[in-house]
Amino acid sequence: MKRRLVIGNWKLNGRLAANLSLLDAIRNGLSRIATGTQLAVCVPHVYIPQARAVLNGSAVAWGGQDVSAFGEGAYTGEVGAGMLVDLGCGYVLIGHSERRTLFGERDADVAVKVKRALSAGLVPVVCVGESLAERESGSMADVVLRQLNAVIEHCGVGAVGRFVVAYEPVWAIGTGLTASPAQAQEVHALIRARLAEVGGPVASRVPILYGGSVKPESAARLFAEQDVDGGLIGGASLNASDFLAICAA
Ligand code: 13P
Repeated sequence: MKRRLVIGNWKLNGRLAANLSLLDAIRNGLSRIATGTQLAVCVPHVYIPQARAVLNGSAVAWGGQDVSAFGEGAYTGEVGAGMLVDLGCGYVLIGHSERRTLFGERDADVAVKVKRALSAGLVPVVCVGESLAERESGSMADVVLRQLNAVIEHCGVGAVGRFVVAYEPVWAIGTGLTASPAQAQEVHALIRARLAEVGGPVASRVPILYGGSVKPESAARLFAEQDVDGGLIGGASLNASDFLAICAA
């Protein structure tokens, strides 16, 4: 059976009072979601204790949106993988396109962070995706596979099966332009094939999530594709009823 996973990425949004209503509403709306679908929210680091307080004991996991490439020491401003584990995080987003484009994260940095997260016992959500220019120039597959291969090469083939992959075409993030189900399926199949090539049968169980302007109206058709196992949801995860509707799909 497919492993279903939907993760909300709050990005740089939220304040204590609004978070509480959102988290409460998600927790209280879970009866609509089929069992077998795992839910998670990746919140700003400072709000992880709040997410834990509200979600502990529920079916919703929580996590961070980034992790340090370093273990511990003199790295001002960093948050380490062990710290996320201390706060009960299950997941951590790594290599989101906003981290890559706005904060200069390179494939090699992403790979080091994934290894840190794995060693600490977190499930990294490895984000990959091409820009519009890359898609239009025909290099979508090269870009996505280069990003994925950097992680596999650094973490080893044994890591396959221990991370989640999120395909987020940069042109679809926050733009309202969703990839068509066929476009998403094409890239997800490519990712699955590469995982199978290096990792064997375990590849069929790696959740490959689609992200980029997923809305309640578009979720069901995307999630119906064979290799689309769920979603990484930005804007719509800030609204409990939209997020729950996407999870229900
Ligand atoms: P939107 O759903 O707002 O397009 O964001 C997608 C995303 O970047 C999730 O990580």
